[in-house]
Amino acid sequence: MAYSTAIALAICIFSLFHNIGGTLSDGGCDLSRGQWVYDPSYPLYSSTDCPFIWKEFDCQKNGRPDNEYLKYRWQPASCQTPRFSGRRFLERFRGKRILFVGDSLSMNQWQSLTCMLYKSVQAKYTINRIGGLSIFSFPAYDVSIMLSRNAFLVDTVHMRNGNVLMLDSIENGSYWRTFDVIIFNTWHWWLHTGKKQPWAFVRYGVNNAHKDMNRMVAYEKALNTWARWVDSSVDTDKTKIFFQGVSPDHVNPREWGDDANSKSCLGETEPVKGTQYPGGSHPGEVVLERVLRKISKPVHLLNITRLSQLRKDSHPSAYGFGGHRGMDCTHWCVPGVPDTWNQLLFAALFQGS
Ligand SMILES: *[C@@H]1O[C@H](CO)[C@@H](O)[C@H](O)[C@H]1NC(C)=O
Ligand SMILES: *[C@@H]1O[C@H](CO)[C@@H](O)[C@H](O)[C@H]1NC(C)=O
Repeated sequence: MAYSTAIALAICIFSLFHNIGGTLSDGGCDLSRGQWVYDPSYPLYSSTDCPFIWKEFDCQKNGRPDNEYLKYRWQPASCQTPRFSGRRFLERFRGKRILFVGDSLSMNQWQSLTCMLYKSVQAKYTINRIGGLSIFSFPAYDVSIMLSRNAFLVDTVHMRNGNVLMLDSIENGSYWRTFDVIIFNTWHWWLHTGKKQPWAFVRYGVNNAHKDMNRMVAYEKALNTWARWVDSSVDTDKTKIFFQGVSPDHVNPREWGDDANSKSCLGETEPVKGTQYPGGSHPGEVVLERVLRKISKPVHLLNITRLSQLRKDSHPSAYGFGGHRGMDCTHWCVPGVPDTWNQLLFAALFQGS
């Protein structure tokens, strides 16, 4: 073989590997597949590093007796999640406004992100509340990370006979589109009935008010309304759109094959081993992914469902609100699983840079 051919071949092989490496590091890797591995260098911060942490999420302070659940790192199957850097994040978003819109799972992720950023930069912060909006700011960076509580994304309007959930209407969109980055979420409230159901009628189409309807159908109609709003009204060159995937709860131990424990996530101290969740894919996730596939504008799904399904151990359980108030197998302790959601957010924001 001629010398020059050998060189050419070597260059070719090198560039082949180089390309693969390049693809992985700029986000071509699927971060949603993987498993949780024990890593004693975790968590990324402790709740005492985060002076503004809400007591709902501060499981250690609320007396949770175990802390091994803090020491798991998400390990994607074929690459690494990039290292979170609060400084890079804040430099990059100087002068910008980031908005989480959704239910209390958005609050969970917002809280985790503000803790992670604060732990990184230790800069002065302010927290304000204006109406339904919580505003966390780092004045030195001129960055605000905001939270708007909104369970359904589509409108709820007050009428004489009770609240009406309007599956076709999304008035708040005109406000949201003024932000630079938005992370949406809705799922949790769609299944609530009885006292926890904040509407009396659900409405779609022309004069179509119903006392109730199939909730999965309602969820999909609302998501489609949201999707049409993104396609028709959001300038995605200016506003980056994310969807926090469906966050699973762990109220039914049979899902993860624990037939002895018939009650809840209480007493769970380790993740499900391996890469698969015995309970299978989440019905909400299936609907969400179907809707997202139809959007033509760039929308990034934070695909957190599977990785969160594996974390039956990471809910507050009895160590939520001030120690004991019912059983919370829906939200997540902070630090905890939402930190990984934010690592995925970070990875997506810094893709290719
Ligand atoms: C989300 O992740 C799950 C688990 O890895 C995967 O099955 C699913 O296809 C992913 N969804 C999308 C839209 O990539
Ligand atoms: C817009 O969102 C706020 C809270 O985020 C909510 O109180 C208000 O009802 C929403 N508007 C409509 C029309 O639903």
